[in-house]
Amino acid sequence: MGTLTKTVVLLYVTSAVLCTPFVNQLQPGQEWPTRSSVKQPYHELVQNETDTKSDSVATEVEVVAEEEKAPEEPEVPDDNNPKVLAEEVERIDYSGAQVWKVSTKKSSTQRLINQLASEKLIASWGGNHSAIDILVKPNALENVTAALKKKDVAYYVMIEDLQQRINEENPPLDENELELQDRRGHRMTWKQYHRLEDIHGFMDYLAKTYPSIVSVNTIGKSYEGKELKVLRISDGKQGNKAVFIDGGIHAREWISPAVVTYFINQFAENFDVESDDIKNIDWYFLPVVNPDGYEYTHKSDRLWRKNRKYGYGPSTCTGADLNRNFGYRWGGKGASSYPCSDIYRGSGPFSEPESKAISDFFKNTATKFSAYLTYHSYGQYLLYPWGYDNALPPDHKDLQSVGLLIAQAIRKTGGSEYKVGSSSGLLYPAAGGSDDWAKSLGIKYTYTIELSDTGRYGFVLPASYIEPVARENLAGLRALASVVNKLD
Ligand SMILES: *[C@@H]1O[C@H](CO)[C@@H](O)[C@H](O)[C@H]1NC(C)=O
Ligand SMILES: *[C@@H]1O[C@H](CO)[C@@H](O)[C@H](O)[C@H]1NC(C)=O
Ligand SMILES: *[C@@H]1O[C@H](CO)[C@@H](O)[C@H](O)[C@H]1NC(C)=O
Ligand SMILES: [Zn+2]
Repeated sequence: MGTLTKTVVLLYVTSAVLCTPFVNQLQPGQEWPTRSSVKQPYHELVQNETDTKSDSVATEVEVVAEEEKAPEEPEVPDDNNPKVLAEEVERIDYSGAQVWKVSTKKSSTQRLINQLASEKLIASWGGNHSAIDILVKPNALENVTAALKKKDVAYYVMIEDLQQRINEENPPLDENELELQDRRGHRMTWKQYHRLEDIHGFMDYLAKTYPSIVSVNTIGKSYEGKELKVLRISDGKQGNKAVFIDGGIHAREWISPAVVTYFINQFAENFDVESDDIKNIDWYFLPVVNPDGYEYTHKSDRLWRKNRKYGYGPSTCTGADLNRNFGYRWGGKGASSYPCSDIYRGSGPFSEPESKAISDFFKNTATKFSAYLTYHSYGQYLLYPWGYDNALPPDHKDLQSVGLLIAQAIRKTGGSEYKVGSSSGLLYPAAGGSDDWAKSLGIKYTYTIELSDTGRYGFVLPASYIEPVARENLAGLRALASVVNKLD
């Protein structure tokens, strides 16, 4: 046992020494192609959109439970949004709060939900045309029950006590894992949700350990100055295709960075034995688009969604919804102009440093991406543009059929059912999403992937789900890689 440990340590030290690259000595494939022109060359590639109305859309359901009518005036800070700037922020306690799945089959339900939300009795967790999940605040349980019963709206309780679920979601690692963690050279596991420091440490470790294929660049900084780190995996071959993948746009969707880092780990650690489909692609990963929000969900409010840019409007409300801030058809349906809203679009297209950094990266890269995947949770959907309205891009049939291929691979591997469709059609219109913007750049296979589950745990998916969810989605990613490799 002692010998084994010594051998492992020795091997590790040796490889760490041998693999540390000399500064300024770039390995093949490590130079990231850039271009000096700031012009977007892709726009010409986008054909005129067919403004086909998708006939499957129930048009009554416009916006999910957000206070569109809320007045633009100084706002009473609500209890989800404490007026605190200091580092030491109190942890928000969700004891007694519940999550309900509410049937929206009756057309009047949406209006009722919007009203309860504007009275701050509930918050929407999202949903589709037949059901919506709502967080019901502890002191509102009776009133919301009465309101739903009065209108004869069906619902059932998914989560009895939200704080209890939060407490159980991310248990500490067991001793074996802790020991492994010490030996590995980074702290990342897929048995736990990790802090930003561990994720960044893992990325840097891979770049140091596999300098001939892995490199890390900081493409910008968050509002609070945290790095936006993109990791590239590439063997530098001419003629490789390119795929961009991001995660963690929404702070509370912890499964997303966990899955994206799982992909990184798989490809970087096993590159030599990976399939040609994987090796013939230059992979770009930005696992945490919203690092300020992500850290905030670990420290203060588990259910924070937006970024942390402070001081919007005359109010004390913090944060914009980064997935309403992208610059294609910004400000349309399903996005709020009200700074306290959870779907606040920001003060203008790319007003937020995090979305701006992504936009700048795409402006300055010479890489032509064949696919853009953005991982969110939850609901189990593979969504393609357009999101801004019930319209479809000209190649929507390709997006649908490849979406079905990905869904099939996921189902065959792990058994989960992912629904495929346009985001406006399957869910509801939401303008300013990163997927619409990526599509507007001419990137062919553009998907928003809503990971597990379908509401049993919602955003608070236990860490034991990371591996199964990541594994089946890796199969989905392989299906996409195979399609990308066949593109001209
Ligand atoms: C796109 O289509 C709309 C309506 O069909 C038309 O008014 C517009 O001029 C078209 N734009 C381009 C760039 O072809
Ligand atoms: C809507 O969501 C519910 C679960 O919340 C699911 O059972 C149902 O299949 C979904 N419907 C569509 C059309 O996605
Ligand atoms: C619940 O309804 C009662 C009666 O209408 C009202 O007085 C009370 O303020 C409501 N509670 C909340 C939390 O809104
Ligand atoms: Zn999301």
